[in-house]
Amino acid sequence: MYMCVCVIFTPLSPGFTWSVNVMERAGVHNVLYTQCRVANGSLQYPIFALTGDDVILPCFLKTSVSAKNMVVEWTRLNLTPENVHLYRDNRDSYEEQHPSYKGRTSLFNDELKNGNVSLKLTRVTLSDAGSYRCFIPTLKKETTVQLFVGES
Ligand SMILES: *[C@@H]1O[C@H](CO)[C@@H](O)[C@H](O)[C@H]1NC(C)=O
Ligand SMILES: *[C@@H]1O[C@H](CO)[C@@H](O)[C@H](O)[C@H]1NC(C)=O
Repeated sequence: MYMCVCVIFTPLSPGFTWSVNVMERAGVHNVLYTQCRVANGSLQYPIFALTGDDVILPCFLKTSVSAKNMVVEWTRLNLTPENVHLYRDNRDSYEEQHPSYKGRTSLFNDELKNGNVSLKLTRVTLSDAGSYRCFIPTLKKETTVQLFVGES
């Protein structure tokens, strides 16, 4: 017997619909994930958090190329200035960072060599909700991660 509990914290942006999927792994239906389908058909995997939580916004290079010597830009759509976290010249750079993210963002330094440029965001607030863009200019690669925040 399976029980599914789905909690949607915040109203979805227009154009999003939801589906919950149960995948079969080794004959056991135990892997559950939500996915979010954008109106134009592309899939997104949103991240859910409650206020005060620490979250990881995933972003990685599929080919496991080291990102140590690359520039990594985390920005948030519709934010001015848009910079959430910037990594360049082999280190984190906080210039032009939006003040509301001060002291709350980091990359996983040990993971950069594996092409993992996921962003850690601590002490999430309601106003952190939105679309985050991870962009690697050298490779012209980008992904967008949607963050939903609910009151804890
Ligand atoms: C679909 O929409 C998403 C989010 O707005 C966008 O990133 C993506 O490029 C679009 N895909 C196509 C095929 O238009
Ligand atoms: C990237 O690093 C974070 C932190 O160590 C980890 O939680 C996540 O699973 C890693 N992602 C991949 C694809 O390895």
